[in-house]
Amino acid sequence: MTGIARHAALLPPVAGEWVTLGEGATPTVALPRLGAAIGLPRLRAKCEHVNPTGSYKDRIAALSLTLACERGQRGWIATSSGNAGTSLGAYGARAGLPGLLFATPTITREKLVPIEAVGTTVVRVADIGTGGSAAAAERVFATVRALAAEHDLFLGVTANALNPDGMRGADTIGHELAEADPPDVVYVPTGGGGLSVCVARGLADAGAAGTRVVVAQPDGCAPIALALDGRLDQPRVERCTTAISGLQLPAPPDGGASVARVRASGGWGSAVADAAILEAQRQLARLEGVFVEPAAATGVAAAAADRAAGRLAADADVVVILTGSGAKDLASAAVWAGGAGDCQPEEVERVAAGWLAGLAGASAEDAAR
Ligand SMILES: Cc1ncc(COP(=O)(O)O)c(C=O)c1O
Repeated sequence: MTGIARHAALLPPVAGEWVTLGEGATPTVALPRLGAAIGLPRLRAKCEHVNPTGSYKDRIAALSLTLACERGQRGWIATSSGNAGTSLGAYGARAGLPGLLFATPTITREKLVPIEAVGTTVVRVADIGTGGSAAAAERVFATVRALAAEHDLFLGVTANALNPDGMRGADTIGHELAEADPPDVVYVPTGGGGLSVCVARGLADAGAAGTRVVVAQPDGCAPIALALDGRLDQPRVERCTTAISGLQLPAPPDGGASVARVRASGGWGSAVADAAILEAQRQLARLEGVFVEPAAATGVAAAAADRAAGRLAADADVVVILTGSGAKDLASAAVWAGGAGDCQPEEVERVAAGWLAGLAGASAEDAAR
């Protein structure tokens, strides 16, 4: 069976054909070099960035568009910082259903172009995302919800509060973690809270109730982590100052549900600086060859911080969920990854000699250590 249909027994009933691009069944890989660097030798990653459009949102889009077809709806409507829009657009095109997406103004070119390529109409909305306000985000959610109801459109926003049936597609991450060696702790990059709810529910439904779920957020927008820590009564802040795209939700629609699910799992919240997230992104690439977008590295940064603070034991079996591909936001990595040179054909040997001399120098340094 192709795609998340494999998990149909634990999902809302689907009578007809599934809309699929082969999402899910992503690999869980060991991260030994990064794990050694941050003091967690058993660190592993669930590689959601290898889904068909490069993020875990494909699981949600597969179920959402399958349900939209079953219900005979006219199309879909959603808000997104880019990943959900890319997924809904691709699966919508496959299903023959048009989509209208309201995006954050700072959506990257690598997210925008694929959404438009599949025929989705995209409009950027001011005052949501970086520097955005809780009031603006709540207003846009309410408007989109009303439009969906009025015009028989599938509401594709990736939050349980707005799209409860489609979101169950992301529960399949929890099902897959439960199937193969469930970890002690799973770190979930978190914005609106939906993914953390789905992972916790999926683990519990598939019988792996022993895994603790940790919400990892940037400290410039950490309402759920702060509420879990008892530093906020409600998971809501007025403004968002983090630059980490995908995690910029000051009024997270699934905030309350996330707090409840995470607490029930025995987990906690962890907030880390943007700089630590970008450093985790760099380390994943340099030490493991795994290139993800900044938001996806948030769990790694949080696990490193929690280990340093003694909140995680050195022998903890930790899985980080790598939610989106690095190819979706090249500018954020170009800060540390640029630097290709140019040369003439006759210079190739000289350039290689310089590179080899550098290698010899590095191994002499290693030997001297
Ligand atoms: C790459 C990435 N990671 C994590 C998340 C967070 O998911 P949620 O808003 O369900 O907490 C998102 C959401 O857009 C995302 O794009």
